[in-house]
Amino acid sequence: MTGPVILALPGSEAFGEALRAHVFGEPGGLDHRQFPDGETYLRIMSEVADRDVVLVSSLDRPDPKLLPLLFAADTLREMGARKIGLVAPYLAYMRQDIRFHPGEAVTSRSFATVLSHHLDWLVTVDPHLHRYHALGDVYRIPSRVVHAAPLMADWIRENVSRPVIIGPDKESEQWVAQVAAGADAPFLVCEKERSGDREVRISIPRAENLADRQPVLVDDIASSGRTLAVAAKQLVDMGFAPPDCVVVHPLFAGDAAQALSGLARRIVSTNTIVHATNGIDVVGPVAEAVQALL
Ligand code: R5P
Repeated sequence: MTGPVILALPGSEAFGEALRAHVFGEPGGLDHRQFPDGETYLRIMSEVADRDVVLVSSLDRPDPKLLPLLFAADTLREMGARKIGLVAPYLAYMRQDIRFHPGEAVTSRSFATVLSHHLDWLVTVDPHLHRYHALGDVYRIPSRVVHAAPLMADWIRENVSRPVIIGPDKESEQWVAQVAAGADAPFLVCEKERSGDREVRISIPRAENLADRQPVLVDDIASSGRTLAVAAKQLVDMGFAPPDCVVVHPLFAGDAAQALSGLARRIVSTNTIVHATNGIDVVGPVAEAVQALL
């Protein structure tokens, strides 16, 4: 049986190529550019009739990526592709999962509706599930979620001696506990209050008995970097060493690097988003999830 056609959207070429090797897929060709007026030109350069197609697009900075993705999916459908799946190592718009103030867009729902309409299945890595319990609460297509916790635990076991794992907020407890169990380390969970995009307060539980261990802050997303920065500064003020930070999705938006500068010993992330801190490869388990849906 022939493998799927793997079509990487701009920015996800490296992930697409690694995935292709794992699933024995065939590389697909895509021509994509902007017209002078900013509109998108897109052409599928592969024969896809009766073939399974896997689109690969990490959806960080999602707005300019969404239309090319939808155009690609529609065109593939018109060209007779059998099933069109999406591998989005980072899935955007999961955090606005409720209307906090009257009139706000619940963007997670709208985004999920649009993607579910155009695609047949979805694979992603640790989507930000807070008030939703599962992707199926908003996505109406078959989906698989890959968990980075075991890979993060492996990295910590191999690279940090005597770690204590620290989760910055209550929501992180479940997977922080999993990372800690895998790394054979104790863990702490903090309380976080966010009052603005770049304003967070974090209370770290007292843990004098753990202060001689190397703190490892783990989080699913680093966006403004303030959660990690505030937690790192507080840990040092409490007598801990500068922490290592291990994050799944390294968005590091705007001045995040500056906000974190000098506060952490090391920062490492998974390759769901291309970033200088990438050090943990999630392609293997993503490929397994894709195989399960093909
Ligand atoms: C929030 O619930 C997430 O788990 C992260 O802690 C948050 O998105 C990090 O954002 P920032 O880097 O902007 O503090």
